[in-house]
Amino acid sequence: MCGIFGYLGHQDAAPLVLAGLERLAYRGYDSAGVAVIDRAGHLEVRKSAGKLANLTSLLEREPLSGNAGLGHTRWATHGAPTDANAHPHLDGTGEVVVVHNGIVENYIELKGRLAAEGHTFTSATDTEVIPHLIQELLAQGHTLAEAVRLAAAELRGAHAIACMHAGSPGTLVALRIGNAGGVSVGFGSGEMFVASDLPALLPLTTSVAPLAPGEMAVVTPEGCEMLTLDGRRVDTARQTIAMNPVAAARGGHRHFMLKEIMEQPESAMSCLRGRLGFTPPSAVLGELPFTSEELRSLSRVVFLGMGTTQYATRVGARTTELLARLPASAEDASEYRYREPVVDERTLAVAVSQSGETADTLEAMHLAAGGGARTLAITNVAGSQADRGADATLLMHAGPEIGVASTKTFVNSMLVMYLLAAHLGHARGALTDAAAAAHVEEAARLPALLGEALELNRGVYERLAAAYVKARRFLFLGRGLLDPIAREGALKLKEISYIHAEGMAAAEMKHGPIALIDGETPVVALVLRDALYEKMLGNISEVKARGGVVIAIATAGDDSIEAQVDDVLWVPPCPPLLAPMLAAVPVQLFAYHTAVHLGNDVDQPRNLAKSVTVE
Ligand code: F6R
Repeated sequence: MCGIFGYLGHQDAAPLVLAGLERLAYRGYDSAGVAVIDRAGHLEVRKSAGKLANLTSLLEREPLSGNAGLGHTRWATHGAPTDANAHPHLDGTGEVVVVHNGIVENYIELKGRLAAEGHTFTSATDTEVIPHLIQELLAQGHTLAEAVRLAAAELRGAHAIACMHAGSPGTLVALRIGNAGGVSVGFGSGEMFVASDLPALLPLTTSVAPLAPGEMAVVTPEGCEMLTLDGRRVDTARQTIAMNPVAAARGGHRHFMLKEIMEQPESAMSCLRGRLGFTPPSAVLGELPFTSEELRSLSRVVFLGMGTTQYATRVGARTTELLARLPASAEDASEYRYREPVVDERTLAVAVSQSGETADTLEAMHLAAGGGARTLAITNVAGSQADRGADATLLMHAGPEIGVASTKTFVNSMLVMYLLAAHLGHARGALTDAAAAAHVEEAARLPALLGEALELNRGVYERLAAAYVKARRFLFLGRGLLDPIAREGALKLKEISYIHAEGMAAAEMKHGPIALIDGETPVVALVLRDALYEKMLGNISEVKARGGVVIAIATAGDDSIEAQVDDVLWVPPCPPLLAPMLAAVPVQLFAYHTAVHLGNDVDQPRNLAKSVTVE
């Protein structure tokens, strides 16, 4: 997490850095800061706790002037989100300035050693040891690049670091160790940029060079030199990236989250574009380099993901098992990476990540690759680490997702996994031509069905939000492919409304959570007309028999359900494998309207960040 942005050139650095931080705010937004060095080598820092607006006002009151700047937007790990803990951090002389993303795992040991040598610290962060280490090495006569490189060798953990020194105002050093989020260099004309990710650079330049783990860039306004962290020169490839930053604008909606929910028909369409063959119908996944022979020889598929994306993989794993008749599991990547899983050459490890930067997902994918697995990334960000690190990539093509709570990428990731399952099933002979064709035809219906789902329940969400907003907690229940949607519904509600919610397989309720049922704990029951409909009705009766309140998410036309529950949100009738993608809509909109009713910051909920690049 945390966003880094740097500038060297002929323009005033502070406004450019501030604008760069705005584009990175989804990575963290509990405090922010900027450092600027002028031509005379005078270094000054402004930083402020709270959202970026606080730093903007501070800079209006106390402007900074100079052509070299470094900024940071923070998601706190060590030390509370205060002014003092905000980055950039300085050494004791005030001449070395550092911004950092990652966790210095041995910072206590390093801080102790430096303190014993007379260094004093002004923050509670782990980061602050870095400028002090660099300053010590500069004092021994090393160049800035050397000092940063040698200091980095002392750090344990995964890091992205950028550093400047008042004594060399025309140089910025950036480096990357492991998978603590990326660092990319952007090439301008007589000016250079450094940022945590590519979208932050795109309004300024499309010519970029992302650093690989273990690489560093020594940047000047004219260009940059790339080195490995053991000091060897490397030719990191410069790429030209195409992307339209205007697509990221809110487009008339009050919040990005609402815009992103409403554009799901269109984003699903983009995901399908070019992937549906019609004569005969088939899933065309031309990006997959695997031969039919390789696909036939697979013995299992392991889906890796976190949070909302992990819930999407639960749907993906069940669909894969169903269509490809292959053992498939959905793994919490943070647990998988530490549990010595069984992996071999016949395993396909599918890392699913909207950002393509989630540290745990990346590490789990690398672990599987180390065990011989073929790796596939499903991500929304071309050029992300997941994309670059996997054997192959299927892009979600959802367009930029700015709201911190994932919505359209949740649906698109399930859609990609559906196509993948149909493709695997067909390639392995588990699906006949006709069966594979039927799935492709069903997938093609998704954009229109999403459109219908968005049309249903107009005005109802607002009424329900007002009616239930005082509830102390919610339970979300689902079965089969809707169990993960129940979990996602609870997560969405928690993260933006801050109301506690639990999502679970409906049958699990009897094994404990049923004790929570009372008139103040609404139960959202996903009870679509599917094979498990009758079973869900049974679970609803159990809740009602205990005085519980039930909001059903049901299939439009199922009039009988109304008599059995307190409120209903409708989903259009749909093929069973599309049900999770369509049921996602009402859980998203219910959470959205509840959070709006509470006056919460929907796009930047407290304590969260869009990409979790630390473990
Ligand atoms: C919740 C949410 C998170 C992400 C998770 C993984 O709305 O967005 O739970 O799903 O942090 O992120 P990615 O998909 O970028 O790996």
